[in-house]
Amino acid sequence: MLYADYNGSAPLLPEVREYLKKRMDSELFANPNAIHSIGQKLSRGMEKCRALIAEAVGAYPDQIIFNSGSSEGVSTILHSVLEYAPKDKKIVITSALEHAAVLKALSWYKERRGFEILLADIDQNGVVKVNELKKLMEKHAGKIALVTIMASQNETGVIEPFEQIAKLCREQNVLYFSDTTQFIGKAEFHFEKSGVDFAVCAGHKIGALSGSGFIIAKDPTVIHSLVFGSTQERGLRGGTQHYIGIETLAIALSDFKEKGHKLKDLEASRRWFEQDVKQAFPKAVVIADDVPRLPGTTLIGYPGLHGQAVQIELESHDIFVTTSAACTDNQPETSQVLKAMGIHDDLGRGVIRISLSYSHGQKDYEFLANTLKSAYAKLIKIHSF
Ligand SMILES: Cc1ncc(COP(=O)(O)O)c(C=O)c1O
Repeated sequence: MLYADYNGSAPLLPEVREYLKKRMDSELFANPNAIHSIGQKLSRGMEKCRALIAEAVGAYPDQIIFNSGSSEGVSTILHSVLEYAPKDKKIVITSALEHAAVLKALSWYKERRGFEILLADIDQNGVVKVNELKKLMEKHAGKIALVTIMASQNETGVIEPFEQIAKLCREQNVLYFSDTTQFIGKAEFHFEKSGVDFAVCAGHKIGALSGSGFIIAKDPTVIHSLVFGSTQERGLRGGTQHYIGIETLAIALSDFKEKGHKLKDLEASRRWFEQDVKQAFPKAVVIADDVPRLPGTTLIGYPGLHGQAVQIELESHDIFVTTSAACTDNQPETSQVLKAMGIHDDLGRGVIRISLSYSHGQKDYEFLANTLKSAYAKLIKIHSF
């Protein structure tokens, strides 16, 4: 079996699984905000996790605000910045590549709060053109409330020039949120060095428990809780913390810190895989082949072949992939992201996304290459191309 949908959700890390088995037998279950000794023990444990997580992502502990995952993180950041923006700052710059969590929230701010949403230009690989962005920012100087452009794209794995964008935003005194959901735990990330103002992480993308996650905020006092509640997270997020989820976040990010050096080998194996398939099937297309991508992500298509047919063929060999993003996998259409990159339906409907992690290597990619080549051969024959 090869589960190859880590961008959709990563399975629990073995280290997390082992930890949870023991953890469930402990007596440590209480409200971490209570002052009795069990609560206090949990609270100290949570703060230890915060410190470990902060160290793993290059931030200070008080910059980490725990929550339920990235959709909540994105909504909270947009709410904090846009709802409290000065009246003369009514422009948000984003890109067509963003996740629905960002785009839907921005539509709401457009309709209900009168914000103007501008899209930054992208090239045919889905990379934001920094020079064009600079011009756009200069044109609207003084009126921009926020720039929000992701760190890496969930479907293509393309890494955006987010550090350059952060520099640009700093120079123009504009707040910058980069959606790092697909970057943290999948590539080396250092919050402080990146220069971004806000970042997010979701536990289920990194082998921790689903329903756990956090925001990183350069200045946490800017954050306004979306959820009314008590004083949890220093008043920045109402609701009792998912302390077991938080423990798993610390384990997952510590594991990444220890094993992140494996990303180089993962990337080399991924490159080998892509070459191998393209050599056997020269018409096969790796989307955004020539630009930096997440080490373990490939979006590959064969014009004319339907992605779902390839997906089903792979699944019959116990390989689990998606056709685009996991949350839009049931829509047999070219994804919005690929459309924005100018990719036509012939190829756009034919892609499958393969996403692995630093725990994988050459053997996995050999299995994938052989199975995908057989699938293409079989389907091409059926469709007699
Ligand atoms: C880039 C990106 N942002 C945000 C999200 C939403 O994350 P969550 O599922 O934790 O709410 C996802 C999930 O797929 C994502 O890929």
